[in-house]
Amino acid sequence: MKNADTLKNRPIGEISNENAGQITEFMNGLLANEYALFTKTLNYHWNITGPRFNSLHKFLEEAYNDLLETMDATAERIRVIGEVPISTVEKFNATMKLNERNGHDMSTSQMLGDLFESNLMIQSEIKDFLKKEDLMSADPGTEDFLVATLRDHEKLSWMLKSHLE
Ligand SMILES: [Fe+2]
Repeated sequence: MKNADTLKNRPIGEISNENAGQITEFMNGLLANEYALFTKTLNYHWNITGPRFNSLHKFLEEAYNDLLETMDATAERIRVIGEVPISTVEKFNATMKLNERNGHDMSTSQMLGDLFESNLMIQSEIKDFLKKEDLMSADPGTEDFLVATLRDHEKLSWMLKSHLE
């Protein structure tokens, strides 16, 4: 017998509204943090100065383009599970946990260090959520998406850390 709490018209088929709601709450939080990290990376791309300007300006451009793709894929994954992503600056601002800083008065290593810490924070939130086995087994597509997103952030972390050493 089917659970009465199951919507049949979700694109991914059967998942309880309760599970879909909890997954969406996390995914929207992730989306807001991705938005914040994207904006920070763009900010530092604009405001970085110093002898490594050329290479870091380009490196940050690649990073924000990758983050834009991650953000887009996160919002689209929320649509795939039949829910609605945060889609306004106002809601991103109210939901994001990463703190913003002014770019123009920061040193290169402060900028890269801030991006590194922000990446680690997103990674640890994803890893914590992946431990929720009931939710992950209810939606293995999102689990796989989160593992791939985690891997992308880990790669970015490695590149940021390499620039800092
Ligand atoms: Fe640019």
